[in-house]
Amino acid sequence: MASELKNDRFIRASLRQAVDVTPVWMMRQAGRYLPEYRETRKRAGSFLNLCKTPELACEVTLQPLKRYPLDAAILFSDILTIPDAMGLGLNLVEEVGPQFDSPVRTAGEIKALSVPDPESDLGYVMNAIRLIRKELDGSVPLIGFAGSPWTLATYMVEGGPSKEFGLVKGLMYDDPESMHHLLGVLADSIILYLNAQIAAGVQAVMIFDTWGGILTTTSFQQFSLHYMQKIVSQLNRQYDGHVIPVILFTKGGGDWVKDIATTGCDAIGVDWTKNIGIVRKEVGDQVALQGNLDPCVLYASPEVIQQEVAAVLESYGRGHGHVFNLGHGIHPQIDPENVAVFINAVHELSGQYHI
Ligand code: CP3
Repeated sequence: MASELKNDRFIRASLRQAVDVTPVWMMRQAGRYLPEYRETRKRAGSFLNLCKTPELACEVTLQPLKRYPLDAAILFSDILTIPDAMGLGLNLVEEVGPQFDSPVRTAGEIKALSVPDPESDLGYVMNAIRLIRKELDGSVPLIGFAGSPWTLATYMVEGGPSKEFGLVKGLMYDDPESMHHLLGVLADSIILYLNAQIAAGVQAVMIFDTWGGILTTTSFQQFSLHYMQKIVSQLNRQYDGHVIPVILFTKGGGDWVKDIATTGCDAIGVDWTKNIGIVRKEVGDQVALQGNLDPCVLYASPEVIQQEVAAVLESYGRGHGHVFNLGHGIHPQIDPENVAVFINAVHELSGQYHI
C-alpha cells in the first residue's frame, strides 16, 4: 500500500509537475547554526555518535522542521559513512574537519577495499531512516543521500579535507587504472547503499559531488560523471508505488549541466555561481533544477534576503521544475531568524510563477 504525503511539493517539483508555490529546503539544514543541534551534539558526545544513534539522528533531522515550514527533510548522516564502513576509521576533528586513520593511496590499498553491506555495516543509517519516516508521519518527504564516487575518493586518498587535491589528482593522472578501480568499488557501494535507503523509506535521493568542480572537463566526464551515471542507471526509481526522484549536485559544475542532464537524473543541483535562468535554458525540459541562493545572502538584512530570493525566482521564471535551495550548505554562523525570513520569502513570493 503506497503511503501518501500531506505535502508533496518537493517530489512534484523534482519531477517537473505542477505545484502551488516553489518548494524549499536547505543543504545542511540540520546543523550547527541551530542551538538545539549544538545541544544534541553535545549530548551525543561526538559527531559520529550522533550519526550512529538512530534516536539522536532522528531528533536532529526533525529540528529544522519544527522551526520552519520546510518542504522536505534530509536524513541526518554524512557522506563519509561509506569509507568508514570500509574500515578507514573516520574521526571528526574540531576546526579541521573529517580525518581518516587509514587513507588509501597505493594500488595495493585500493585493491584490498571491499563493498560494505548496507544492512549489516550501515544498519544504523537504515534504522534512522525507518524511525524518521515514522516520526514524520507523511508530513513531508525524506531525502536520502550519498557522496559521489569522486568526492568520496578525494577524502579517502587525501585522508581529510584538502585545498589543492594534489594526492588524489596525482593518483588519477599517474595511475588511472587504480583510480578507476577505486571509483568502481565506490559506485557499487553507493548503488547498494542508496537502494537500501530507498527500501528503508527515503522518498528521494541526492548525490553530493562536492568536489567534481575541481576537475578538468575531460576528467570530470571520465572520473566523476561516468560513475554518477552508472549509479543513476541502477537505482530503484520506483518504490511502494511512488517515483523516487534522483538529484545530482556537482558544486562548480555549472559549465557541465547539459552533460549532467543526460545521465537520466530527475533534477540537477546548481551552485550560486551561475544564473539559474541560463542553466534552465541550457537543459530545457529534460530535468528540474534545485538552487541556488548564495549561502552568504543569509548574513544580510531581511530586506536583502527577500530581494535576493525574488531575484532567483525571477531568474528561473514562470513554470514548474524549480526546487528552491541554497547554492551550497548553510554556514554555522547564520542567525536562525534569517533562515525563517528566507524560507517564508520563497513561499510568499513564488505563487505568481505557478499560475
Ligand atoms: O544537509 C543536512 O542537513 C544533512 C546532513 C549532512 C551532513 N553532511 C552533516 C554534517 C549532509 C548531507 C552532509 C554531506 C557532506 N558531508 C558533504 C557533501 C555536502 C557538502 O556540504 O558539500 C561533505 C563534503 C561532507 C563531509 C564533511 N562532513 C565535512 C567536510 C564536514 C566538516 C565540515 C563542517 O561543516 O564542519 C563534515 C561534518 C558534518 N557533517 C557536520 C554536519 C552537521 C558538522 C559536524 C559537527 O561539528 O557537528
